[in-house]
Formats: sequence, C-alpha cells, structure tokens
Amino acid sequence: MYRIGIIGLGSIAARYSTPSDPYPYCHTGGIRQCEATELVAVADMSDDRKSEFQQTWGPDFPENSIQYYDSDVEMLEGENLDIVAVCVRGPFHFAVMENVLKADIKAIFLEKPAGCSLQEVDWMTAGADQKGIPIVVDYSRHWAPHLLRLQSLVRDGLVGEVKSVIGYCGGTILSFAIHNTDMICQFAGYDPASVAAHVRDGSGTANPDYEPEPAIVGSSIRFNSGVQGFHVGGNAKRGSFSVDVLGTEGLLTAGYGRGMTRLTDSDGKVVDNDTLDLPENASVFQVAYQQIADYLDGGDLPDCTGGDYMAVNEIGFATIESGLTGQTVEIPNQKRDRLIYANG
Ligand SMILES: NC(=O)c1ccc[n+]([C@@H]2O[C@H](COP(=O)([O-])OP(=O)(O)OC[C@H]3O[C@@H](n4cnc5c(N)ncnc54)[C@H](O)[C@@H]3O)[C@@H](O)[C@H]2O)c1
Repeated sequence: MYRIGIIGLGSIAARYSTPSDPYPYCHTGGIRQCEATELVAVADMSDDRKSEFQQTWGPDFPENSIQYYDSDVEMLEGENLDIVAVCVRGPFHFAVMENVLKADIKAIFLEKPAGCSLQEVDWMTAGADQKGIPIVVDYSRHWAPHLLRLQSLVRDGLVGEVKSVIGYCGGTILSFAIHNTDMICQFAGYDPASVAAHVRDGSGTANPDYEPEPAIVGSSIRFNSGVQGFHVGGNAKRGSFSVDVLGTEGLLTAGYGRGMTRLTDSDGKVVDNDTLDLPENASVFQVAYQQIADYLDGGDLPDCTGGDYMAVNEIGFATIESGLTGQTVEIPNQKRDRLIYANG
C-alpha cells in the first residue's frame, strides 16, 4: 500500500463528498476506494477543518490510522510518505511545493491550477525532474472511465482522422476552464502550437501582488499535428466540461457526464452507444490514484504528467496573454513571468 499525505483539508481534499458517496469527488474518498493506497496523514493549520475532517471521515479509517498536523512542513518531516497530495489554493502552490520537493517521496498529486505563472510551473517541473519523480496535475474529469475509453477509441480511429476539437466551458481560465483545456487536449493531443483568444474580467479583485485572473470568452488553439481546437467560453449553450471531436469519418460528443456520449458516423447516422463498450462510472480520484500506484509498481507514467500538464498550462497562459494583448501567442510562451491570481 502506498502511503499518502494530504496538504490542505478543503473542498477538493475532503468536503465535496462523504464516505457514503459511491463515486466520491475528493482526494480522501478516492484514496479510500483505491486498493493500492492508504491515507496516513493530513495537514491543515485550521483546527476547524481538522476536526470536521475527523468527524466526517475518521470513522471510515481504522482507529488512529491518520495522523493530524498543523502544517505541511511538520507532516513532511514527521511521516514517511510515498505520495503527497497538494490541495491548497493556487497562490499557495509554489510555497508548499518548495517544501514538498525537499521531502523523500515518490510522486506528487498537485491540484490545478498548477501555478500562478509559467515560471512557477517551470520551477516545480524542474525540481521534480531533478528528483526523478512525477507531478500529476489534477484535471480530475480526465479520469472519468468512459472518457479514458473514448480517448483510446478516438486514438484508434473511432472518428477517422481528428481534425477539430471544440470544448465548452466558461469561467476563469486557469482556475476553472483549464479542466476543459485538458479535455480538448485529451482528444486533440498535447502538442499545442499557438493560441488566439478573447477574455473578459473574471475573478474580481486580485491580491495586489498579482494580476486578476480573466475568464474565457472563446479561443482558437492550433496544434502542431494540424488539429484545430476551439474553446467556447462563457456564453456556451452547452454543459461545461464537454467536447465535440470532429473527424474525417464521424463526430463524437463526449463530456464528464457519461450520458452525454453521442457518436454519429460519416453519413450522419447515430451509432448505438452499446457498441462503444463504455465502462461503468467510478470515482475519478480512485482512478487517478490507481494510475499513480500502477506507475510506482513499474507501470506507465500517469496521465496529466510532465509534457501533458505543461501543454495545458502553455495553452492556459497563452489564452490570457492573447486575450490581454490582442495578439496570437506562439507556444512556448515567451512571457513566463506574468503572475495571475489563480485562486481556484
Ligand atoms: N479538481 C477539481 O475539480 C477542484 C475543485 C475544487 C478545487 N480544486 C483545487 O483544489 C485546491 C484547493 O481548493 P479548495 O476549494 O479545496 O480550497 P479550500 O479553501 O476549501 O481549502 C484549502 C485548505 O488549505 C489549507 N491550507 C492553506 N495553506 C496550507 C498549508 N501551508 N498547509 C496546510 N494547509 C493549508 C486551508 O486552511 C484550507 O483549509 C485549489 O488549487 C483548487 O483550484 C480543484
């Protein structure tokens, strides 16, 4: 069993779900359901958060199996951990990752937004590369079992050659819509070449040390493969976290909801979803932790690691850069120090 410590006991760590949820949408629930991982420690400076966690989740873990700490440093010094989940808000990621990267661990599961600037993301990536461990960035919807299956079917030619991927999701670019940026890449590939975007004011007042985080209106993403990506933002008349994948031999609509799946062939005929052999639902966190455990057992790198999360962040920051300057931005971005208050 791989030993896990969580830093930050907020919504995504533990509060979005309870132990009775069949498909928990939080780290604690996913770790608990994954047979290869065990939660051994949590850290938060808030006593209220720790006691709420203890009341909600404590009874579902063997007595005294979880150690409680007031800070990330105390937990990292006090425990022998394999995996650390970083679940604090975006502007704290860099400082917490400085501590996490000093610890003797095997993998990091980092919440989105990875960092508040590309410089921060570069620095974390270099630190992890130096240690020879992966950072997995949590674009959580990526791990929905039916989406992983559709991704693999599309790679094998389900819609012929993919030509365009249109993603639907409004909201702040790095803190929220970035989930959909990952979903576009999941079907278009993780090799972006340039972005042209329109943005609008997003998150209201910012910390004065940062620029405020814009929201997406819409963008066009050119991929080196020739695939064209489009991100439809705030005014989309479609549920968030969904994509249309347009190929030479069909059109696939897919999204976080399994029921959104709809395939039409090149004659425009709807294909029976039963032929797609879509797996049952599961907690996306359970699936992600299982991928990390499989990697530690000698398997493939987990999804949303290294070049993949870097591509997603390049697109996210290029979207902001393009929206603010009115220029098409080539990737990799030249401006890497724009510091955005990505407080999701
Ligand atoms: N994947 C998703 O779907 C999803 C959804 C919501 C939030 N998130 C991401 O998760 C992260 C956390 O968001 P949230 O809404 O859960 O936050 P939150 O505000 O609910 O909780 C954050 C917790 O971190 C604690 N904290 C801050 N600094 C700390 C430190 N140095 N050591 C220990 N604890 C510390 C705070 O006391 C707080 O309890 C953000 O990056 C956010 O974007 C992801």
